[in-house]
Amino acid sequence: MPDSPIVYLNGKFLPLDQACVPVLDRGFIFGDGVYEVIPAYGGKLFRLAEHLLRLDHSLDGVRTANPLTHAAWEKTLVDLIGKNAGGGNTDQYIYLQVTRGVAKRDHAFPKGVTPTVFAMSNPLPPIPESYAAQGIAAVTLDDIRWKYCHIKAITLLPNILLRQEAVDKGATEAILVRDGEVTEGAASNVFIVKNNTVITPPKSPRLLPGITRDLILELAAQHGIAWREAAISERALREADEVWLTSSTKEIMPVTRLDDARVGNGKPGPMWQRMTTLFQDYKRTLRGGSHA
Ligand code: PDD
Repeated sequence: MPDSPIVYLNGKFLPLDQACVPVLDRGFIFGDGVYEVIPAYGGKLFRLAEHLLRLDHSLDGVRTANPLTHAAWEKTLVDLIGKNAGGGNTDQYIYLQVTRGVAKRDHAFPKGVTPTVFAMSNPLPPIPESYAAQGIAAVTLDDIRWKYCHIKAITLLPNILLRQEAVDKGATEAILVRDGEVTEGAASNVFIVKNNTVITPPKSPRLLPGITRDLILELAAQHGIAWREAAISERALREADEVWLTSSTKEIMPVTRLDDARVGNGKPGPMWQRMTTLFQDYKRTLRGGSHA
């Protein structure tokens, strides 16, 4: 790892401390942009095609053309990992963002601007051992976000306020509830297990279509685990045998305390153990190079 990581900005690789964006960038002024977070295990990008497809959908949602082809993204991200990970052997995660570009401040889209493209790769922090041993605490909070939560927008103020409220209450994550139904976490998707069935809310503009979420449903289907996409009421959440939160950087977190009540028997559950084993097997195969 070089002292100052190498980042990608508008077609160039350069040290992080030399990467600068003009203050009139609409990302800075308006939060007018979208992003992705992509893990790379042993240098292999996790579900790159799916992440790039979600990036396309986010860009469509904010009416911006993708400035790079998928092939160009792949080359850029693979090069970036190679420049930061001692040859690509450590686990990293890519953060990339595309903003509408630099223009005089005006809410309406400026004409003829070039989007700003930024990507960095950082070491992927290990999952705390306490997650498997004890699980995590979560609190339910009112989902105060906008109606386009399927767009991975950089404008994250509600998510930040919600996460901080959870942290202030001694919890790791907030589980958001809109009109009596669970949507997702502040930066994660939600699953429950009830009578050995894995359940997660269906995709809709109320939640981000998580790449980890999709893989979990795929693994369940492949291994004969019952699963369903269905609305989860706040009550069903509280009566669940298990509750999980998933994301690219945190994998599958077992929630064992919810608003100061125990979830199930208060320990990470057997279905969580099983799914985590399948997930780790998947990562091992990815490292070995058999799938993406
Ligand atoms: N966030 N929902 C929200 C609101 C998220 O921000 C995330 C991930 C997810 C899970 O998606 P995925 O499995 O594709 O990571 C769901 C990333 C990790 C972040 O903002 O850092």
